[in-house]
Amino acid sequence: MESKHPQDSKTTMTDSVLPSETNAIHTLFGGELLARMDRAASIAAQRHSGKIVVTASVNHVAFKHPVPLGSIVTVEAKVSRAFKSSMEVYIDVWVDNKTSKGSIKVNEAIYTFVAVDNTGSPVVIPQLVPETDEEIKRFEGALRRKQLSLVLAGKMKAQDATELKALFN
Ligand SMILES: CC(C)(COP(=O)(O)OP(=O)(O)OC[C@H]1O[C@@H](n2cnc3c(N)ncnc32)[C@H](O)[C@@H]1OP(=O)(O)O)[C@@H](O)C(=O)NCCC(=O)NCCS
Repeated sequence: MESKHPQDSKTTMTDSVLPSETNAIHTLFGGELLARMDRAASIAAQRHSGKIVVTASVNHVAFKHPVPLGSIVTVEAKVSRAFKSSMEVYIDVWVDNKTSKGSIKVNEAIYTFVAVDNTGSPVVIPQLVPETDEEIKRFEGALRRKQLSLVLAGKMKAQDATELKALFN
């Protein structure tokens, strides 16, 4: 199976913020952003694996800045590491700067997807080869994040999370 690069899965989705997608103070509702990120990340995971994918876990989300009504929001997702059947996907979120060119980063998240067959059973996926400095950094941290996610989900014993434990040694 041929390996792939993060760029092969890059998925960019731009959309505005409508009144029905905001909270009581007229900024983007968190659940709406989670759904947008899940959609972009699932396409990235599908592009990497060429398979049906399901969200296995939301590992990290940081809502750094509120996103006002009317903002133009861009969600970018890329696979940061592939394991046997699971993939870590990194999502970066930007809002267009209203007063000048460019954009402001408002959010970052990490999701895990699993490639499955028609019966929902996990299937083997291509490996991922990172290229840029940022892609290498994200790739290197992915195994400990996978172990943390599995420990929190009750699927791995803390004492078996060797990569995670090494952080504290
Ligand atoms: C995700 C799912 C397919 C995993 O099935 P499973 O029986 O636990 O399968 P396995 O134990 O073989 O795990 C498959 C892979 O997922 C990984 N995985 C499972 N749960 C995970 C979690 N919480 N965090 C990170 N990775 C996880 C495993 O480590 C394994 O990775 P690998 O094959 O790359 O080494 C299954 O739990 C499922 O279908 N969940 C529902 C998914 C869904 O409906 N999502 C949408 C929610 S609305």
